Amino acid sequence: MKFQPYKWLILLFAAFGFACDSGTTTAVNNTNAINRNTVTVATATPAVPANTVIVDDVVPDDLDVPYVPTHQSIVDEMLTMAEVKGTDVLYDLGSGDGRIPITAAKRFGTRGVGVDLNPVRVKEANKNAEDAKVTDKVKFIQGDLFEQDFSEATVLALYLLPEVNMKLRPKILEMKPGTRVVSHNYDMGDWKPEKSKTIKTPDGETHYVYFWRVPEKKQ
Ligand SMILES: C[S@@+](CC[C@H](N)C(=O)[O-])C[C@H]1O[C@@H](n2cnc3c(N)ncnc32)[C@H](O)[C@@H]1O
Repeated sequence: MKFQPYKWLILLFAAFGFACDSGTTTAVNNTNAINRNTVTVATATPAVPANTVIVDDVVPDDLDVPYVPTHQSIVDEMLTMAEVKGTDVLYDLGSGDGRIPITAAKRFGTRGVGVDLNPVRVKEANKNAEDAKVTDKVKFIQGDLFEQDFSEATVLALYLLPEVNMKLRPKILEMKPGTRVVSHNYDMGDWKPEKSKTIKTPDGETHYVYFWRVPEKKQ
């Protein structure tokens, strides 16, 4: 079994909570901005008995990117920028709660596939697809994005990290020419985007959306 530092952190926080007997509930949550190795301990509303430790996510220790959901306004912009339509096949690498493929399926009837290494996210995404009544259009797979075959995609959606985008470049270049690639916040190094946009979310944070097309293969 792998050593999972998050589990130890959670256990430590739990032990601390019990020792202090503060009467509050401790929740271990994700953070709002992508930031490696950050665990936030927040005080939750007391809807559950005092001293209950809520672990909403036991994060696999081999994740390349932490979970941070894309704000819905940015999801909408990503789909608009990539001109997603009903005939597309959209892949979201690191799909989180599934909001990008699910929104595309709901809005345009797009077929979508989400891949996430974290089984908690995959379960959540499948439940969200059920609630949105789009299980005939989208599916969520547990797996490593670096091992996933996404060559059937006509649109690739990403919200990863700069170095992960860079590692994906060779595989993106093997995709069908014309495949649209849209990325939240992070660019692709020296690949010049065809379009880009700066967006402010209601919390005042500035986000970026970038768009490229896979070029014709060099002879
Ligand atoms: C920043 S979140 C983006 C979630 C979603 N795409 C969105 O925009 O709302 C990144 C996601 O990538 C997943 N992830 C991290 N490393 C991965 C890997 N090697 N393979 C597949 N998924 C991974 C995480 O579990 C997390 O859900």
